[in-house]
Amino acid sequence: MRNLEDKNLPRHIAIIMDGNGRWAKKHALGRVAGHRRGAEAVRRIVRACRSIGIPYLTLFAFSSENWQRPAREVGALMRLLSEYIQSEIEEIRSNGIRLNVIGEWQTLREHIRQLLEDAMAKTAKNEDMIWTIALSYGGRDEIVRAVKLIAEDVAQGFLRPEDINQSVFHRYLYTSDLPDPDLLIRTSGEYRISNFLLWQSAYTEFYFTDVLWPDFTEEDLNSAIREYQRRERRFGLTAEQVKRWEKL
Ligand code: FPP
Repeated sequence: MRNLEDKNLPRHIAIIMDGNGRWAKKHALGRVAGHRRGAEAVRRIVRACRSIGIPYLTLFAFSSENWQRPAREVGALMRLLSEYIQSEIEEIRSNGIRLNVIGEWQTLREHIRQLLEDAMAKTAKNEDMIWTIALSYGGRDEIVRAVKLIAEDVAQGFLRPEDINQSVFHRYLYTSDLPDPDLLIRTSGEYRISNFLLWQSAYTEFYFTDVLWPDFTEEDLNSAIREYQRRERRFGLTAEQVKRWEKL
């Protein structure tokens, strides 16, 4: 592994890929050109995470609010996603990566939904890395959806209100089969969570960088991981308690 210590690697990295539009503006190009370069950064970072041995990677590709962007930009983003899946699926499959999608992606156009379903089916048996794409995703929507599903199960007698706890709640989220993110990276100098993985990031380490997403490289990823490795995660305990716990 290049330039990174094996010790204390994050198991789950989540990324808010931001700054495609500003990258395009900086280069006097249209926004879609920025997204196209953003898709190249996706390719680099998926490959890098796989080669480092990160078992879970989650990328925020399209938020529930992104539907309000100009129709042309939304269409271009969907086209880029579908081109990406078609051109990369074979590499993804042969590299042991399982594709997973979260969000209201079932409401996407038939063609892209079919493409995603096929890609997930083709890679379903892979176990080396789970790459999750958040599409038409919103953290608050996800929580409200979980509450509705729980209410239905209670109404049907499958669940008793007194049995609802954090781990039961987790089972009703889109991310029920993923661990919480250890490290959440946001590019482009914005310091917000923007409705991404709200429940799941309760104890996540945040890393913000000014680098615009299309410029984000494997070395930038390594820097984020190194910074994560330097941090002490306490989960509400004291430093002394954590030290004792680590020795066990
Ligand atoms: C944020 O930049 C980025 C997005 C809204 C879309 C992310 C999409 C990609 C990286 C390309 C396709 C994705 C995959 C998975 C192949 P912005 O447009 O908000 O940038 P700005 O804030 O500078 O305007």
